[in-house]
Amino acid sequence: MALKSKDLLGLKDLSVEEIEYILSNAKTMKLILKSKNKKTPHLQGKSIITLFYENSTRTRLSFELAAKYMSSSAANVSASGSSVSKGESLIDTGKTIDMMGADVIILRHPMSGAPHLLAKNSNASIINAGDGMNEHPTQALLDMLTIIEKKGSLKDLKIAIIGDIYHSRVARSNIWGMTKLGAKVCVAAPTTLMPPEMEKTGVKVFNTVQEALLDADVVMGLRIQNERQKKGLLPGVREYARFFGLDEKRLKMAKEDALILHPGPVNRGVELTTSVVENEKSLINEQVTNGVAVRMALLYLLTRRDINENTY
Ligand code: CP
Repeated sequence: MALKSKDLLGLKDLSVEEIEYILSNAKTMKLILKSKNKKTPHLQGKSIITLFYENSTRTRLSFELAAKYMSSSAANVSASGSSVSKGESLIDTGKTIDMMGADVIILRHPMSGAPHLLAKNSNASIINAGDGMNEHPTQALLDMLTIIEKKGSLKDLKIAIIGDIYHSRVARSNIWGMTKLGAKVCVAAPTTLMPPEMEKTGVKVFNTVQEALLDADVVMGLRIQNERQKKGLLPGVREYARFFGLDEKRLKMAKEDALILHPGPVNRGVELTTSVVENEKSLINEQVTNGVAVRMALLYLLTRRDINENTY
């Protein structure tokens, strides 16, 4: 099997088989990641570039480490330290990187659809590392891997996603991916942070956190995206924490063995209390490790496409 597209732009476009194929490869990569010698020759001779127009710790570093663990050349371009700050367009920046021989460009951009635009104008494979309010597919893949490792499968699990659904590309990618793999996803947010017609995506929508949490198998808190808040959508973080923040008492509504996830970075005391972050059921650290495994798998699968194409 091979991935159909040269790019990974979102989970909306992937088949169930492709998602399962990526996750199966990520499980193998995790074994390598956990072994004494993490260095593999999978990406020898390949060049991987991270092109980030927004800040990141987890996504950027895990892609860079994944590339280096698999013996490729890896370099980072950030908007503030590059000719982007002189006004160069995304397409021109992408073409410049392309002409230097990049095999994969990993793009994070504040505009929804930016990776799709770059993919059409680049020979390199493009991986979406988060585009505006659209998708963050590698985050959702690592979230799904984390749940599957503990629960065996996503089928029929009740997954409660709580928080700023409106601005969340993490929520959108998880909704596409998790519903494809058979989970029952429900969402809860303040009314102003819930997009209209959310039900059309196949999720159940609740206005209170209590309803969403009831008997949930998995609880995912989302970050309040202060950088994307338009004036008036959120009265204040204190009010948010009071009505939607996840604390030990609220979590009792979920199943006793419910897993706790958060994509990070966490605003402690707002989305989750410190006690929830550090709860034994919290998988936030596991998510970080799985992020490297998933990104190793994707870099491997996307750079193998030319081998597969020549073989056919
Ligand atoms: N979850 C996530 O995308 O984190 P970073 O912004 O640190 O990459």
